[in-house]
Amino acid sequence: MPAFVVIGGQWGDEGKGRMVDLLAQDASIIARYSAGDNAGHTIINHMGKFALHLVPAGIFYPEKLCLIGNGVVINPAVLLDEIHQLEERGVSTKNLFVSDRAQVLLPYHQVLDELEERARGDAAIGTTKRGVGPAFVDKIARRGIRMADLLEPDALRARLEQVLPEKNAVLVKLYDAEPLEFEELFDAFVEFGCELKPYVRDTSSIVRDAIDNGEQVLLEGAQGSLLDVDAGTYPFVTSSAPSPLAAGAPVGIGIGPTQIERVVGVYKAYMTRVGAGPMPTELDDETGDILRREGPAPEFGATTGRPRRCGWFDGVASRYSVRVNGVTGAALTRLDVLDNFPAIEVCSAYELDGNQIDSFPPTMTQLSRVRPVFEEHEGWQAATADVRKFDDLPKQAQSYVKRIEELLGCPIEMVSVGPEREQIIIR
Ligand code: IMP
Repeated sequence: MPAFVVIGGQWGDEGKGRMVDLLAQDASIIARYSAGDNAGHTIINHMGKFALHLVPAGIFYPEKLCLIGNGVVINPAVLLDEIHQLEERGVSTKNLFVSDRAQVLLPYHQVLDELEERARGDAAIGTTKRGVGPAFVDKIARRGIRMADLLEPDALRARLEQVLPEKNAVLVKLYDAEPLEFEELFDAFVEFGCELKPYVRDTSSIVRDAIDNGEQVLLEGAQGSLLDVDAGTYPFVTSSAPSPLAAGAPVGIGIGPTQIERVVGVYKAYMTRVGAGPMPTELDDETGDILRREGPAPEFGATTGRPRRCGWFDGVASRYSVRVNGVTGAALTRLDVLDNFPAIEVCSAYELDGNQIDSFPPTMTQLSRVRPVFEEHEGWQAATADVRKFDDLPKQAQSYVKRIEELLGCPIEMVSVGPEREQIIIR
């Protein structure tokens, strides 16, 4: 069973990209299984700094295959732009393939994302406005267009003839917006189909063949578990189907769940969130601002540039995500960001209406009422960026990691102390 999954254990932006960049060394295939270009990875390696939204983080290994699975929603313009930028900077995309079953994001999805958010007013979700939510809604409503359709103009025309009038009716009648012109849209997407044709494949059978040959396949998650539509802080979640949870990986890649041997959960040493919705340990003060700005890569969204909301590590939310993902081992990222704090808080339980609880509440009303129960840890106030062995970490940093391990309830196998590939402690 040589497939393994890497998931984000919090609200996204945990540093999955840098962990995938590292763990890809052990795999022959790296495959993305959910979300769209709402996700964003920043990767810093020997070739420079890259922000990727659709292309898997394994692309920097020229001998490995990188796949975008059927569970991903593709904005062809964004994918082509990413391919061109990588090629221009000397990163080959000849081993990149996109599933013929992946859904296509169309311009009306982006327009609707913007209009729907505006209509929500104070209850806005804070989406990335990339159109990904509306594209997944259309997928499930059976109104989607898939990559394979782009390769067959007749099929594309038939699908668009069915779908566009309905979309235009919503734009015009519900939102008083401009309709989209059929032939213009059709021509643009036929052109995208021509440009992307060399990349489109039945990626599921590529993965199956690799598994049959005993090769390692890394299934790369996007976003975070607490943004999942079932397990997350609904309705302040993403609409990805399949889910960003580990359970979404086999569906989004087209293999069976029995092929998955381990689940690596990526957790930041503190919490961040972009967009709206409850975040029990949020620090809306100077400490939060220091967390945001400290460290070599400040906390601003890779996709939207929005400042991320920051707070102390939430042991309740993080342990919950270990459970719903079946995490077998964790990676703790950005420990170095905490280097200068004299004291560091960790949330080990919640208080809800006067009672202490250690479960993650299901409703937003309950979650917005919980008060975090903090325990204080002595800071180490020393640089960790150059540490490569766990035993060489300051004693306070070792005990911080061990306490988080206890709260997670699974082993922390890796600790990152900087954004570069080699700034990692393997335990
Ligand atoms: P959407 O996925 O653009 O519809 O946004 C829904 C929610 O998920 C918003 O709170 C976004 O900020 C959040 N979100 C979506 N993708 C990511 C991600 O890759 N990292 C962090 N947050 C994300």
